[in-house]
Amino acid sequence: MAIDRLNDRVALITGAGSGIGRASALRMASEGAAVMCADLNVEGAQTTAAQIAEHGGRSATMELDVTSEDAVKDALAQTVAVLGGLDVIFNNAGIGGAAYTWDQTIDVNLTGVYYGTYHGAAALVERGGGAIINTASIAGLNGLVSSASTRDPNLPVEPGAGAYVAAKHGVVGITRQFAVTYGPRNVRVNAICPGYIHTPMTAGIREMDGAEEFLAGLHPMGRLGQPEEIAAAAAFLASDDASFVNGVALPVDGGYTAR
Ligand SMILES: NC(=O)c1ccc[n+]([C@@H]2O[C@H](COP(=O)([O-])OP(=O)(O)OC[C@H]3O[C@@H](n4cnc5c(N)ncnc54)[C@H](O)[C@@H]3O)[C@@H](O)[C@H]2O)c1
Repeated sequence: MAIDRLNDRVALITGAGSGIGRASALRMASEGAAVMCADLNVEGAQTTAAQIAEHGGRSATMELDVTSEDAVKDALAQTVAVLGGLDVIFNNAGIGGAAYTWDQTIDVNLTGVYYGTYHGAAALVERGGGAIINTASIAGLNGLVSSASTRDPNLPVEPGAGAYVAAKHGVVGITRQFAVTYGPRNVRVNAICPGYIHTPMTAGIREMDGAEEFLAGLHPMGRLGQPEEIAAAAAFLASDDASFVNGVALPVDGGYTAR
């Protein structure tokens, strides 16, 4: 039986050109939503839109840098102008890894989500309500462990890890604050906390010797997740099936945070 929970809804998804964002765009479109696929990598967003079209869904694309407050405001307005509405905002774009500085990681993963939640909540109130979903991480709930630090306990926190964990904890905080403030105005704000997922973001660490096995072992289910498993949670939180779910940081992590 096809699920049509999101019929007549319009969703804006950031980072829709890859990984979790692409899988979520496809999933929400398959449930009936029209999806604005926004990404810094506009070609990636166009590929996602083409895949949605192949399955008979409706979408549009736009180039978006979530670190620009004006660009985020424009993306919200463009979604309404092009797709005729706005009901769901998935602030999902993110970066991770040692290649990024503290400022870059905070700008994209924390400030970008703040812009999307701040301006997104106001836009949804104007339209009578809606749902915001933010992509946090297990790193928004716990510190991270690395295979290197288990081999050598004298290592410092890995480059990138400190900023990533700080940003993702911040995303959980933003989610809770906006859920409290905007719940009375019919805007639900929730976060998803994925475990390690098979996406381009994790390709580099997964390719390191023994890393995939090490990472799989951190999850009680003994494996990494697939982007479609995060997309399923995002579609749930976007839908009326989650009509009384507000302010949660939902781990979708194979049990990673259970221990
Ligand atoms: N993959 C994992 O294991 C994992 C685990 C927990 C949380 N997350 C989070 O999930 C989200 C999606 O990650 P993914 O694994 O799908 O990664 P990904 O690299 O496959 O996709 C991220 C997308 O975000 C886009 N992006 C980056 N900076 C941007 C910016 N400034 N403005 C707009 N778009 C931008 C990229 O172009 C890319 O298309 C991120 O927030 C990430 O931190 C991922």
